Amino acid sequence: MVDVLVTGGAGFIGSNFVHYALDAHPDWRVTTLDKLTYAGRRENLQDLDGHPRHRFVRGDVADPAVASPLVQGAEVVVHFAAETHVDRSLMSAGEFIHTDVHGTFVLLDAAREAPRLRCFVQISTDEVYGSVPEGASRETDELRPRNPYAASKAGADRLAYSYWASYRVPVVITRASNNYGPRQYPEKSIPLFITNAIDERPLPLYGDGLNVRDWLHVDDHCRALDLLIERGRSGETYNIGGGNDVANLDLTHRILHLLDRPASLIEPVADRPGHDRRYCLDTAKLRTLGWEPQTAFEIGLGATVDWYAKNERWWRPIKEGSEAYRAYYDRQYARRG
Ligand code: NAD
Ligand code: DAU
Repeated sequence: MVDVLVTGGAGFIGSNFVHYALDAHPDWRVTTLDKLTYAGRRENLQDLDGHPRHRFVRGDVADPAVASPLVQGAEVVVHFAAETHVDRSLMSAGEFIHTDVHGTFVLLDAAREAPRLRCFVQISTDEVYGSVPEGASRETDELRPRNPYAASKAGADRLAYSYWASYRVPVVITRASNNYGPRQYPEKSIPLFITNAIDERPLPLYGDGLNVRDWLHVDDHCRALDLLIERGRSGETYNIGGGNDVANLDLTHRILHLLDRPASLIEPVADRPGHDRRYCLDTAKLRTLGWEPQTAFEIGLGATVDWYAKNERWWRPIKEGSEAYRAYYDRQYARRG
C-alpha cells in the first residue's frame, strides 16, 4: 500500500482529488487532513465514510502536533490546504499567511524527517505570475504576485523550492489555472454566477468584465497531479492550464444561456482592487510528459451547470443557512453596485 496524505481534501479540488485517487489507485491508502474552515465541507467526503482505504483527520496544517506525524508516515503528500479566495485576502490577509505560508513551512519541515517520502506536491497557482498582458507564462518566468492571496502562495511556492534546494525534500511544484467543476464553494465566480442565475438574482461582474481567466476542469487537474506524482522531477515546477482563455463577460453570457436566463441579470459592479487582467499558461513542459486536457470547455461548463442545478442540497444550505456566508456576501457586494 502507498500511504498518501492529502491536505485540504475536504475542499473543492482536494475532494475531487481524493475521490479520483481512490478510484484510480487500488493500492493507495489516503489520509485527508483538513481543518474544515468555511470552505472545507465534511459532506464532500461523506460517501467515503467507512471506506477501507480512506481516513479523515480534522486538524490544522500549521499545527505540528497533528500535521508532522502524518507527513512523516507518508510516501506521497499532496498539499492543497490553503485559504484560496482573492476577495477575502483583500479584506483580511492574516489567515492566508497562517495557512498558506506558515502551514506550508510546518509540513515542509516535517518532510525533512519523513523516511519514506518520495513526492511532496506543493499546489501553487498561476496567480504567482501576476497579470500577463500578452503571451503565456512559463515556469521560469519571474513571479509578480499582486494580491495578498497570490503573494502568500508565491511565498509557499518558493519555500517549497528552498526545501528541495537546501535539504533535498522531493518537492514538485504545480501552478494551475482557474479550476471549475462540482463542489466549488459558491463564492468563486462560476458557482456564484450559476447559483445566482438559478435563483434569478444579479450576477455581480467586476469592472468592464473583460478580465481573462484560463479555465481548467478539475478532472483534468487531478489527472495532471497523478501523472506528476509518478513522473514529475523533484525540484521542478509544472504549469497546469486548460487552454480555455475566456473573458468574464463571455463566461457570464454562457452561464446565462445554459440556464435560459436573461442578460439583464448581469450587474456591473466596482472592480476588485488590483484585479489581474489576464492569466495564461504555457503548458508545454507538462505536455512533454503525456498530459493534455480532455474536457472541452463547453462540455465541462454544461456539466458543471447541471451539477449545481441537481445538487441544490449541497449549495443552498451554504448560501441561505449560513450567517457567515450572508455576512461575507453583504460585506463584499452591498456597496459595490
Ligand atoms: P478550497 O478553498 O475549496 O479548499 C481549501 C481547503 O483547505 C478546505 O477544505 C479548507 O478547510 C482547508 N484548509 C484551509 N486552511 C486549512 C488549515 N490551516 N489546515 C488544514 N486545512 C485547511 O480551495 P480549492 O479551490 O480546492 O484550492 C485547493 C488548492 O489549489 C489551494 O492550494 C489553491 O491555492 C490551489 N489552486 C486553486 C485553484 C482554483 O481555481 N480553485 C487554481 C490553482 C491553484
Ligand atoms: O488562477 C487561479 C486562481 O483562481 C486560484 O489560485 C484561486 O484560488 C481561485 O480562487 C481563482 O482565483 P480568481 O480570483 O481568478 O477566481 P474568482 O472565481 O474569484 O474570479 C474569477 C474572475 O471573475 C476574476 O477575474 C474576478 C471575476 N469575478 C469574481 C467574482 C467572485 C467577478 O467578476 N465577480 C465576482 O463576484
